[in-house]
Amino acid sequence: MKNQQRAFQPIGIFDSGIGGLTVAHAVVAHLPKENIIYFGDTAHLPYGDKSAAAIQAYSVKIAHMLLQQQCKLILIACHSASAAAFELVKEYVASKAIVMNVIDPLIQLLHKHYTHKRIGLIGTKQTVNSNIYKKKIDYLNTKITLTTHATNLLAAAIEEFGNHKIIDSLLAEYLSSPHLQQIDALILACTHYPIIKERITAYYKNTVEIIDSSEIVAKAVKHRLEEDNLLNTDSTGSKLFYVSDYTESFATGAKLFFNQEIELEHYPLWD
Ligand code: DGL
Repeated sequence: MKNQQRAFQPIGIFDSGIGGLTVAHAVVAHLPKENIIYFGDTAHLPYGDKSAAAIQAYSVKIAHMLLQQQCKLILIACHSASAAAFELVKEYVASKAIVMNVIDPLIQLLHKHYTHKRIGLIGTKQTVNSNIYKKKIDYLNTKITLTTHATNLLAAAIEEFGNHKIIDSLLAEYLSSPHLQQIDALILACTHYPIIKERITAYYKNTVEIIDSSEIVAKAVKHRLEEDNLLNTDSTGSKLFYVSDYTESFATGAKLFFNQEIELEHYPLWD
């Protein structure tokens, strides 16, 4: 039977900043009736260059705040935080909410459909150096060959220029890495990269499948709520978008990442 009361509680989504809005957008598209609370830790952006210990400390405090807001499910929408802090956040939250990340749904997909394929991955330094994808793939014995490359400046460049052709030269530099040749598919393991998906497809002249995790993650969230009888089918889907540091450029960037005008609110988590 459906847990009526709990189903009304919101889904909490957090990221290092506004990039996770690409994931939030996909979640909203798949689950339009869910109440959503988004938190972007813009005060500490970027997580991609931070130590795992720092990201863990930030993530636990954010999870605490989302629990205070009665979230039934907390989605870590940031790849760097998913790599560094998922286990710790899960332990901290315990049975108070479901905790999901942006890595496991992708691993399950790879396990199902990409056996014996050669897969490339791009992401921040934190995500790539954590080696988490490789560890999970090896654990499942999927026979996938995974090669990774840290594309350190790409997220900042997308924030600065959006989907502008100036990104092409940076992309050409990164994607020409020997680690990203002769691959069947490329995983976009960063919240920002879906914005430039077409540029990446064009770089490979359509010969490499580009795997954008936001859709896959949104479907996994829906599936998990269905499984646990926690789908909210009765609300109109309220949305709150919080950031820990508010600037005009975050407000402008939010539109790019969420693909529609939204109102960011300052949430003084660190004051
Ligand atoms: N959200 C981060 C990620 O997906 C990218 C931006 C950052 O480094 O904070 O890894």
